[in-house]
Amino acid sequence: MDCSPITGQKLLILLAATLILQHSTTAYGAESSGSIRMMQPGCLDKCGNISIPYPFGTGKGCFQEPFNVTCNETGAYLSSTEVRVLDINLTLGEVRVQNPHIAWNCDYPNGTNSSNGLNILSLDPFHKLSDKKNKFIAIGCATLGLIAGSSKGKNQVDFLTVNSCYSNCTDASSVDDSTECIGLGCCKTSFPGNISSFSTTTGPFLDSPAIQSFSPCSYSFVVEEGWFKFNRSYINSINFASKYTDGVPLVLDWVVGNESCS
Ligand SMILES: *[C@@H]1O[C@H](CO)[C@@H](O)[C@H](O)[C@H]1NC(C)=O
Ligand SMILES: *[C@@H]1O[C@H](CO)[C@@H](O)[C@H](O)[C@H]1NC(C)=O
Ligand SMILES: *[C@@H]1O[C@H](CO)[C@@H](O)[C@H](O)[C@H]1NC(C)=O
Ligand SMILES: *[C@@H]1O[C@H](CO)[C@@H](O)[C@H](O)[C@H]1NC(C)=O
Ligand SMILES: *[C@@H]1O[C@H](CO)[C@@H](O)[C@H](O)[C@H]1NC(C)=O
Ligand SMILES: *[C@@H]1O[C@H](CO)[C@@H](O)[C@H](O)[C@H]1NC(C)=O
Ligand SMILES: *[C@@H]1O[C@H](CO)[C@@H](O)[C@H](O)[C@H]1NC(C)=O
Ligand SMILES: *[C@@H]1O[C@H](CO)[C@@H](O)[C@H](O)[C@H]1NC(C)=O
Ligand SMILES: *[C@@H]1O[C@H](CO)[C@@H](O)[C@H](O)[C@H]1NC(C)=O
Ligand SMILES: *[C@@H]1O[C@H](CO)[C@@H](O)[C@H](O)[C@H]1NC(C)=O
Repeated sequence: MDCSPITGQKLLILLAATLILQHSTTAYGAESSGSIRMMQPGCLDKCGNISIPYPFGTGKGCFQEPFNVTCNETGAYLSSTEVRVLDINLTLGEVRVQNPHIAWNCDYPNGTNSSNGLNILSLDPFHKLSDKKNKFIAIGCATLGLIAGSSKGKNQVDFLTVNSCYSNCTDASSVDDSTECIGLGCCKTSFPGNISSFSTTTGPFLDSPAIQSFSPCSYSFVVEEGWFKFNRSYINSINFASKYTDGVPLVLDWVVGNESCS
C-alpha cells in the first residue's frame, strides 16, 4: 500500500493511549436489579416533544439509575453523558441520540493544518453503541479513519477494539457520485457489539499537495447508517463538521440491570 505508515501509527497510538487513560470505572447500578416500576405520579412523561418513558425520567423518584434525563429549554439530555435525546424506544430497547463527536483534520496547500484531534464519547455501562444500526464513516481523499472502542465481552472482561477504513481518490472526478460509501471519497466499517466508550480520529495517509488542493479535509464519526447519505460535495465544498455542528444521529442500546442487549 502506497501510504505513510507513520501517520497511521501516530493516530493509532494516540487513540489507544487516550482510551486507556480515560477508561474510568464509575460505579453504577446500585438500584439496577429491581424490576421495572410503574411511572410515579407527578413525573413528566414528555420533555418538549420527546416522550420520556420509565425507566428514563426527569426528576427525583422518576427514573431508575442511570436513566436520569436532564430536561431544559434546548431539549432532553442523558444526564450521565449529556448527549441530546432524539427519541426513546422501549420495545426495541433503543435510544436515538445526537452524537456531537465528528473528528476532522484539514491540511491546506498553504501549509495551514488544523484538527480537533480525538473525539471521545463515554457512555455509562447501561448504554451501548448499537452495532446493528450504526456504522463508522470516514469522508475525504487519502483519508484514514480510526475508531477505538472499549467493550465488555464474555464474563464482563474489558477489551479494546480498533477498526478503521480508508478512502482514496486522486482527483475530484474519481469521487463516487452516488450516495454509496465504498472507498471513493467515503468509506464505512462496522464494529463489535457492547462498546460503551469510543474514540474516533482521522487524518491523511498520504502527504499529497495535489489531493490537498481539491480535498483538504477528512472527517470521521459513528452515525445511524440509515440516516447517512454520502454527498460528493462533502469532500470539497461542504464542510461536513460545520454543517452538522449539533452532531449526527446515533442509536444506543440500553439495558436495565446486567442482562444482554439482544
Ligand atoms: C490510491 O490511489 C493511487 C492512485 O490511483 C494509487 O497509486 C494508490 O496505490 C492508492 N492507495 C491505496 C492505499 O489504495
Ligand atoms: C420534535 O420537534 C423537532 C423540531 O420541531 C423535530 O425535528 C423532531 O423530529 C421532533 N421529535 C419528535 C420525537 O417528534
Ligand atoms: C440527574 O442528573 C443531573 C446531572 O448529572 C444531576 O444534577 C441531578 O441531581 C440528577 N438528579 C437526580 C434526582 O439524581
Ligand atoms: C441543557 O442541558 C444540557 C445538558 O446538561 C446542556 O448541555 C445545555 O447547555 C443546557 N441548555 C441550556 C439552555 O441550559
Ligand atoms: C419502536 O420501534 C418499533 C419498531 O420499529 C415501532 O413499531 C414503534 O412504533 C417504536 N416506538 C416508539 C415509541 O417510537
Ligand atoms: C490557508 O488556507 C485556509 C483555507 O483556505 C485558510 O483558512 C487559512 O487562513 C490560510 N492560512 C494562511 C496562513 O494563509
Ligand atoms: C456482549 O455482552 C454479552 C453479555 O455480557 C455477551 O454475552 C456477548 O457475547 C457480548 N458480545 C460481544 C460481541 O462481545
Ligand atoms: C501539514 O501536514 C502535512 C501532512 O499532511 C505535513 O507535510 C506538513 O508539514 C504539515 N504542516 C505544518 C505546518 O504542520
Ligand atoms: C448534494 O449536495 C448538493 C449541495 O447541497 C445538493 O444540491 C445535491 O442535491 C445533493 N445531492 C444528493 C444526491 O443529495
Ligand atoms: C446479573 O447479576 C446477577 C447478580 O450479580 C447474577 O446472578 C446474574 O448471573 C447476572 N446476569 C447476567 C446475564 O450476567
